Amino acid sequence: MTSARQVVQTVLAGRESNPQKAGSAYAPANIALVKYWGKRDEALNLPVTGSLSISLGPLGSRVELARGTGAGDGIWLNEEKLPGDSSFAQRASAYLDLFRPSPDFVFELRARNTVPTAAGFASSASGFAALAKAVAGLFGWGLSTRELSILARLGSGSAARSLEEGFVEWRAGTAADGMDSFAERLEAEWPELRVGAVVLCADEKPVGSRAGMRRSVATCEFYREWPGRVAKDLAALKAAIAKKDFAALGETAEANALAMHALMAATRPPIVYALPETVAAMRKIWALRQDGLPVWFTMDAGPNVKLLFEAKDEATIRDRFPGVEVVAPFG
Ligand code: PMV
Repeated sequence: MTSARQVVQTVLAGRESNPQKAGSAYAPANIALVKYWGKRDEALNLPVTGSLSISLGPLGSRVELARGTGAGDGIWLNEEKLPGDSSFAQRASAYLDLFRPSPDFVFELRARNTVPTAAGFASSASGFAALAKAVAGLFGWGLSTRELSILARLGSGSAARSLEEGFVEWRAGTAADGMDSFAERLEAEWPELRVGAVVLCADEKPVGSRAGMRRSVATCEFYREWPGRVAKDLAALKAAIAKKDFAALGETAEANALAMHALMAATRPPIVYALPETVAAMRKIWALRQDGLPVWFTMDAGPNVKLLFEAKDEATIRDRFPGVEVVAPFG
């Protein structure tokens, strides 16, 4: 089995370091329209299937990284210094271990999220993508987007998709070391597309994605159906994007998210992220669609829904979902 450290060595093989005073980078958050749920290698975050997301432009993470002077890594999140034993600091330090030139080398990391923390968009994808870029910048490695996607994936799977704007496809790959498992931007623009975050509950989720995926792969009797389903949904979504067929995009994304949540519910013990408010929001969206409003939704490992709609309907959506956070992924 290849370790994450070996992957870093493979990526950096023959690469000169040209250390800089600091590395600074931004990466957008992303929301999957065809989901990633299940790993074939836990250490390298290699997925069972491909997935396809939309990046959220100005909502994301900015990271500044420099060599530190303290006894351990100094880690700030949104201007606040974190205790070394906080889960964010531990995850960031464990990731930085992969790149630490020597045990006494400490980092000073300042991360700022432009994703409002309560907006229900995951910031781990943008955080690890920005961190991978900032590390590469600090050491002056001059890595390609593909290499950065591989390195970001080692921090969090969905981070592989946060190196690019627009529609991004993460190919599952088949190599044991994951060198063919990275994400690439699709050649497509859709300026009218809008994503709206409806926050129903900002509490921490009961089961994290890593543990949840592991449990689904091990116990869900329908899991074997999932790869075939994802392959069909990826083909349908790419066709919808190529034709700019919004109804087909919405149908595919919503059905794929519901299929993932069905897998979760058929996991033992079951994983159900939906709250009564989530089900009420789904019913409201279906009723609005019945009345002719073209709106669909997607949802991740949590109770919040993300609306998919077009710019022409933004005023109606804001009226029906007061407080919705609207993003224009193509600016
Ligand atoms: O990369 P992780 O471990 O945060 O997992 C992401 C899982 C989902 O958000 C549910 C789906 C996805 O493709 O982003």
